Amino acid sequence: MKNHLLEEIYNPQHFTEIGHRLITTLGSYLTNTTQEKNRQTINWNVPEKEFRFWKDFLESGQKEDFFDEVLKRTTHTHHPKYVGHQVAAPAPITALTGMVSSLLNNGMAIYEMGMAPSAIERVVTDMLCEQIGYGEHAAGFLTSGGTLANLTALLSARKARVEHDVWNKGYSQSLGIMVCEEAHYCIDRAAKIMGLGQKGIIKIPAGDDFSMDISKLNEYFERETAKGIHIFAIVGSAPSTATGAHDYLDAIAQFAAQKNLWFHVDGAHGGAAVYSKKYRHLLNGIELADSVVIDGHKMMLMPTITTALLFKNRKHAQHTFSQKADYLLNDSEEDEWFNSGKKTFECTKTMMALHWFILLKFYGEQVFDRFVTRQYNLARTFAQLVREHPNFDLAIEPSSNILCFRYRPSDTNASEEELNELNAAVRQRLLEDGEYYLVQTRLRGTHYLRTTLMNPFTHKEHLALLLDKIVKTANVVARDINS
Ligand SMILES: Cc1ncc(COP(=O)(O)O)c(C=O)c1O
Repeated sequence: MKNHLLEEIYNPQHFTEIGHRLITTLGSYLTNTTQEKNRQTINWNVPEKEFRFWKDFLESGQKEDFFDEVLKRTTHTHHPKYVGHQVAAPAPITALTGMVSSLLNNGMAIYEMGMAPSAIERVVTDMLCEQIGYGEHAAGFLTSGGTLANLTALLSARKARVEHDVWNKGYSQSLGIMVCEEAHYCIDRAAKIMGLGQKGIIKIPAGDDFSMDISKLNEYFERETAKGIHIFAIVGSAPSTATGAHDYLDAIAQFAAQKNLWFHVDGAHGGAAVYSKKYRHLLNGIELADSVVIDGHKMMLMPTITTALLFKNRKHAQHTFSQKADYLLNDSEEDEWFNSGKKTFECTKTMMALHWFILLKFYGEQVFDRFVTRQYNLARTFAQLVREHPNFDLAIEPSSNILCFRYRPSDTNASEEELNELNAAVRQRLLEDGEYYLVQTRLRGTHYLRTTLMNPFTHKEHLALLLDKIVKTANVVARDINS
C-alpha cells in the first residue's frame, strides 16, 4: 500500500463530503420509508442471487452506488408495514451516536480507552437499576446483546450459588438451571456453553397461556435434585419470544428464595416495560431478581447491538470473570466500575452507552414509556381485529407487542395440516411480495403468522389492510394449489 493511499483513506474532506451526501440520502430514506413513499418493506431476493449481485458489484459496481444498493437490498424497519422480528426502528439520532462510536473506536475494555462512554455507561445503568426498583447496592453494565448478557448472568449465578470453584477447577458435580420450555433458545445455548448438558437444562412446561407453569416448579425441582443435579438458578422470561407471554416473576422469585436459587429475568424484549406506567405490572417481581437483561435494540429504540445487564448486588457485576489479563487490569478487589473489561465477556466493545444517553438527554425517560405503552396498546387493538374477523384465529391474547394468529376461514373443511401448509405458503408469498414484512412460528404443532409491532408509525389501518391482504393471498395460494 502506497502512503498516498493511506492519506486518501484518512482525508477529512473526503469523509466530510461523503458523510454529507450520506446524511442527505438517509434523511430521504427516512421520509420515504416512514411515510410509505416506497411501497416495499423488503425487496426479497433469494440468497444465491443476492450473493451473486454483491460479488459482481465488488468487481464492476459503481462505488457511488454502494449505499443506495444497501438501502434497496435490506429490510426497512422504519416502514410502518414492518411488523416482523424484534428489532427496533432505531431513533435516527442513535445512528449518529453509532457513527461517533465507530469513528472514535474507543474499545472500552479499560477506562483510559473510553473515559466518557465508561462514565456514561454508569449513568445509564444506574438509572435502569433504579427504574427496576433495585436498592442502593445495585449496578450493571452494557454488553453486546441479549444472548451474551444471558450467558454472563448465568455465569454470575454459578459463581454466586455454587460453592465449588467451577471457574478454576472445572465441574465436580452435575449442575442445572430451571427455565420455561418457551424461553428464548439462547438460554439453552448458554447452558450448553457452560457445559451443563441437556440434563442440566430443566425445562418447565408452559401452561395454556404459554407462561411457565408455576404449579410444576416444586415437582421438577425435587425430581431433578433427587437425580443428583444441583440446581443453582431459575430464569423467568419477560416475555418469551414466540408468543410474548410473560412468566409470573413474583411467583418465580418466591420459589427461588425458598430454594436458594439465583433468579434471573430475561427481559431482553419486554424489560423496557419497567418504564411503562400502564404495563409495568407485567413485570411485578422483577425487582426481586438477582439479575435482569434488557436489550436497547429491541423495545428501546436503539440500533443493534446494545444490552444492559443489571445486578441487584453490584459485587456480582464485578466478580463473574476472575481470569486475569494483568497487562490490562489491576488485581484490586475494589469496585472498578470504570474498567469495563473486568466485568464483561467482551474485551473490546463499542461505545454503546452513547445511544442510551442521547435518548435520555434529548427526550427523557418518558420516551420509553410512550413507546412501550403505544406498541403494547396497538397489539391489543390488533388482537381485537383478528378476533372479530371470521377468517382468523388468535393464538393467545397478547400481553406484549408480539401477536400470533393464523388464517382459518370459518367455513373451511381443510385439515389442520392443510391449514398449516396454507399459512406457511401465505407467509412465503407475503415475503416475496414485500409490501409487509411479518414472520411465522410453530406453537404446539400449529403454524402461526407472527407479528411484533416494533414500529411507531404502524397504525390500526395498516393492520386491517394486512388482514385483507392475507385473505387475498390465501385465496390465490388455494387456487394455485387446486389448479
Ligand atoms: C426473550 C429473548 N431473549 C434473548 C434474546 C436474544 O437477544 P439478542 O438478539 O440481543 O442476542 C431474544 C431475541 O429475540 C429474546 O427475544
